[in-house]
Amino acid sequence: MYAVEMQHITKRFGHFTANHQVDFQVHEGEIHALIGENGAGKSTLMRILYGFYTPDAGQIYINGREVKIQKPSDAITLGVGMVHQHFMLIPPLTVTENIILGKEETNRLGILNLPLAAKQLTELSQTYRLHIDPSAKIEQVSIGFQQRIEILKILYRNAQIIILDEPTPILTPQEIDDLFKVLLQLKSEGKTIILITHKLSEVMTISNRITIMRHGKIVGTRETKSTTQTELARLMIGEEIGPPISKRPFIAHKDILIMEQVSAKGDRGVLAVRNVSLNVKEGEIIGIAGVEGNGQSELVQVIAGLRPFQVGEISIGSHSLSPTHGHQALAHIPEDRLRFGLILDFTLQENLILGRQQELRFRHYYFLQDSETRSYSSELIHSFDIRPEELSLPARNFSGGNQQKIVVARELSKNVPLIVASQPTRGLDIRAIDFIHNSLISERNKGKAILLVSSDLGEILKLSDRIAVMYEGEITKVFLTADTDEREIGMYMTGAKKKSA
Ligand SMILES: Nc1ncnc2c1ncn2[C@@H]1O[C@H](COP(=O)(O)OP(=O)(O)OP(=O)(O)O)[C@@H](O)[C@H]1O
Ligand SMILES: [Mg+2]
Repeated sequence: MYAVEMQHITKRFGHFTANHQVDFQVHEGEIHALIGENGAGKSTLMRILYGFYTPDAGQIYINGREVKIQKPSDAITLGVGMVHQHFMLIPPLTVTENIILGKEETNRLGILNLPLAAKQLTELSQTYRLHIDPSAKIEQVSIGFQQRIEILKILYRNAQIIILDEPTPILTPQEIDDLFKVLLQLKSEGKTIILITHKLSEVMTISNRITIMRHGKIVGTRETKSTTQTELARLMIGEEIGPPISKRPFIAHKDILIMEQVSAKGDRGVLAVRNVSLNVKEGEIIGIAGVEGNGQSELVQVIAGLRPFQVGEISIGSHSLSPTHGHQALAHIPEDRLRFGLILDFTLQENLILGRQQELRFRHYYFLQDSETRSYSSELIHSFDIRPEELSLPARNFSGGNQQKIVVARELSKNVPLIVASQPTRGLDIRAIDFIHNSLISERNKGKAILLVSSDLGEILKLSDRIAVMYEGEITKVFLTADTDEREIGMYMTGAKKKSA
């Protein structure tokens, strides 16, 4: 008997089949990894299990009993909980209010019993060492914190079957360790866990079994201890990843981005960027390494004109930036693609030319010139392998990885001298990561200046010509990549080593 058994599940969106005759089984008390390339149908399958979508065909069994799951409340009643790829918390409400939403405990007079809920939450958070402040508002807390809330929300509803849709890309390595401890604890209590992830190393560490999806179908299930990352990669994408394209030796002279002693405040009003001086030259990738939350996000926002700076000077090419206004001469891949990268209700085509709609080639008097935007978009869709190739599909309906590709495609094809790329491969599958790495290197080879921020140190080391470490808002060290290694950078990242006098 399985904790979860899905049989012959088919789900179509219009003409597109996202799940085709899927058979999926999960044992009770196991950690089961669900992997597959972007758009393979993983989130769709799990949303069906959670009652977010109803399948066009197929049956679902929970603990051996056939069930009809037509809405999330049906799933919750059956003990199924899900942490979504993109969180669904309500920003102005507090942690407690968000968690009890839909399961409000009231007293005899029908009045919400918030203190009781807060107490239960505190107990739960202690049991699982998921540290939270029940009275904080969602809009003020970090993404890692929000995820802990999503997990608590599920535990508060007493879920026995827990689905996590790509929980790790947004977490720091420390937070990932903590999350995995929680998962192991849940497993030891007999709970069943389904984990979607693109990181094969995580799959190998944490899972008992692995199911691989491709193009809406299941291509296999493996015991973790009897498979390898190479086999999994081959099952996922059907081929091996080639070596990266090589970097053209580039002797740059011209500074494109110049920052001098820049300081800026973070959301809480204290300095998040402190006295940063940094130049990025043409034909150079500078990687910013750092534990998340050390000012990298704020630094990028300042350069992109999304956050004012208090002191210092910034110029891009020969334009100097005003402290409160943005600048057009840069391409920006933002870390939060849903908030800053896309307009979710706009179509794929509209998102691909976003910000360039005024350009003459896309305009016909006051209107968009449809045939030109169409052919331009089709080109990008092809070269960046955005799927499905449906120009009029709203951005909202693309898979997480494909949404990321839309943003990257648009930004890398701008004709500007500076690219600021923040977590450019977050949520992407191995093939797409490889493609974007190669695209960044080739833009560099063409002479663009690239500032790369990534929490993936491997990515920083692979792509950067120079690496700047940020710690507590400061740049504590700049290395030539060839002269350093992971261990040395790690010491600066944790502050164990600081700027020498
Ligand atoms: N509401 C929808 N309307 C139309 N198409 C959709 C909708 N939801 C998903 N799709 C399509 O179904 C396919 C599978 O999407 P899904 O989100 O399940 O992929 P995924 O495996 O989770 O990918 P990723 O790793 O990128 O998150 C995608 O091509 C997506 O565009
Ligand atoms: Mg997904």
